[in-house]
Amino acid sequence: MDKKFKVAVMGATGAVGQVFMWMLADHPWFEVSYATASASRVGLQYASTVHWVLPMEMPEQIKTIEIQEFNFEAMKEAGVQIVFSALPAEVAREAEPQLRANGFYVFSNAAAMRYDSNVPILIPETNLEKLDLIKDQGYPESGFVVTNANCVTTGLAMALAPLRKFGIKTIMMNSYQSVSGAGYPGLSSFDITDNCIPFIKGEEEKIEKEVKKILSISPEVYAYTVRVPVMFGHLESVWLDLEQDVEIEDVIKAWADFKEVAELPSTPKQPVEYGSDNTFPQPKYAFWGNPKGMVVYTGRLKKKNGKIGFLLLVNNIVKGAAGGSIQNAEAFVERFGLRK
Ligand SMILES: NC(=O)c1ccc[n+]([C@@H]2O[C@H](COP(=O)([O-])OP(=O)(O)OC[C@H]3O[C@@H](n4cnc5c(N)ncnc54)[C@H](OP(=O)(O)O)[C@@H]3O)[C@@H](O)[C@H]2O)c1
Repeated sequence: MDKKFKVAVMGATGAVGQVFMWMLADHPWFEVSYATASASRVGLQYASTVHWVLPMEMPEQIKTIEIQEFNFEAMKEAGVQIVFSALPAEVAREAEPQLRANGFYVFSNAAAMRYDSNVPILIPETNLEKLDLIKDQGYPESGFVVTNANCVTTGLAMALAPLRKFGIKTIMMNSYQSVSGAGYPGLSSFDITDNCIPFIKGEEEKIEKEVKKILSISPEVYAYTVRVPVMFGHLESVWLDLEQDVEIEDVIKAWADFKEVAELPSTPKQPVEYGSDNTFPQPKYAFWGNPKGMVVYTGRLKKKNGKIGFLLLVNNIVKGAAGGSIQNAEAFVERFGLRK
């Protein structure tokens, strides 16, 4: 592509915002021309104000980007078309409809608009056709909002999409979720050090609602979500009741046959990778894969009394958040023929 799309990152200093800035620093289609955070940071250079929490160096290209105020006219003057939102839900609830009304193409991580009937919760590998809902929001005459799922749901939906054909009747799952899922600064170290917290507000309800909307299925869902003292990556244990009598080999084959939907820069060739070693997967592999953090890993596969069980690992801030949004924007550009 000769000319890159100019994009804005809203909430660029948070845990998810940092992943946007890192992934967009050398993106082949997009370049950051506008970044926002809370009002006290306006006018400051990114490197001088952000508390960088990612396990890799901050790219040189983003260090001098100046934090701007949230201003539609200034964004338009900067040539912004695509907006990536890593805003807290309560801020997004006000900002995202306004961005849409002002003609911007918004790709959001926030839960604020996920459940609107004309707003897709998009995961390109699983439900690319839902992207067409943006026409119900008025595209191409107006802007639109596309959301990605809650981080823990993204991992679950990715592992389940290839198994949909077996008929998913019941999902029983427990999660072991890292602290980065609560944003920065997130939980007090006093609460989470040497400890697990067996409740994440609203999370279990989100899983049930979102997995049904994403995969267009209506299973019974039983979920527990637990916060654990791990930095990155959510582990999930899953048991399924399926309509068909499925063998372990069928599940492994279904994951292996699940390939990228289109050649998008941020989509791995093999989006779900199964490993048979008993100690796989672990959160320390959260940034594995190519692109880093975009592969969902599965393992510990079992069959017992007709049920299928397994564990999965999703990088909550990459595939489960910013990386997922970037992939959604790539899917939009590709599907609507906007590549110049
Ligand atoms: N963390 C995850 O794994 C994850 C996964 C999926 C989805 N999400 C969702 O993604 C969104 C961002 O999550 P996060 O974990 O990155 O949160 P976070 O670390 O708390 O970051 C929030 C960002 O929003 C900015 N912000 C806060 N209040 C603002 C305001 N009133 N006006 C403008 N900017 C404001 C913050 O700026 P300052 O730094 O200046 O305060 C920061 O850049 C949330 O909606 C979250 O639910 C998170």
